Amino acid sequence: MIDDHGYWNEFYLANRAVREPSSFARHVEDRYFQRGTTLLELGCGNGRDAIFFAEKEKQVSALDLSLKSIQSLSAMNVKNAEFFYQDFSQLSDFKNFDYVYSRFTLHSIDDESENMVFQQLPKVLKSGGLFLLEARSLKDEKLAKTFGTDHFRRYLDYEATVNKIERLNFKVLEKIESQGLSPYKEEDPFLMRIVAKKL
Ligand SMILES: C[S@@+](CC[C@H](N)C(=O)[O-])C[C@H]1O[C@@H](n2cnc3c(N)ncnc32)[C@H](O)[C@@H]1O
Repeated sequence: MIDDHGYWNEFYLANRAVREPSSFARHVEDRYFQRGTTLLELGCGNGRDAIFFAEKEKQVSALDLSLKSIQSLSAMNVKNAEFFYQDFSQLSDFKNFDYVYSRFTLHSIDDESENMVFQQLPKVLKSGGLFLLEARSLKDEKLAKTFGTDHFRRYLDYEATVNKIERLNFKVLEKIESQGLSPYKEEDPFLMRIVAKKL
């Protein structure tokens, strides 16, 4: 398993992370989500999207391996949200969610951990539940980077990722590989977005 805890602790302690909800969170909230549902977030970081979803009346369970971040989020007593210091490739305690949401986290783990996430996904979601993924794609590897080169990143093969999700017996509702989805400062990464429904 990749050990970047120190990097992410320092990152969140230094308050370098954006606090507003991501464009992906707004997109899936507007297009797919209902109120009064349950959502599991894999790698919530500083909680920017978890707090947004909780405010939109989802019951949110959010996991991260940055202890500093989980401690400060837990101390905020956010209504409708619980935060867990938990490796998101170990999901046996989490079952029957309406949504599993993963933004900028699948590229933070190695292939073996990704396989573990995908193997467990069908148990974590209800039938009809949605998996919502945004991550860096292989095309992004070639773009110059001004930050983020000091921690692990793995670039995901877009078509292979779609195929892996379909093989789990999920129906892909939306898929795109593009720039322009989440520009940040002077960078405009190549990302994939996949939304898939458990059949
Ligand atoms: C790039 S940040 C994304 C945070 C948030 N999703 C966002 O969009 O702002 C990646 C996050 O994944 C977390 N992370 C990486 N590997 C993890 C793992 N195996 N289990 C839990 N969290 C992990 C890191 O601690 C970090 O907070």
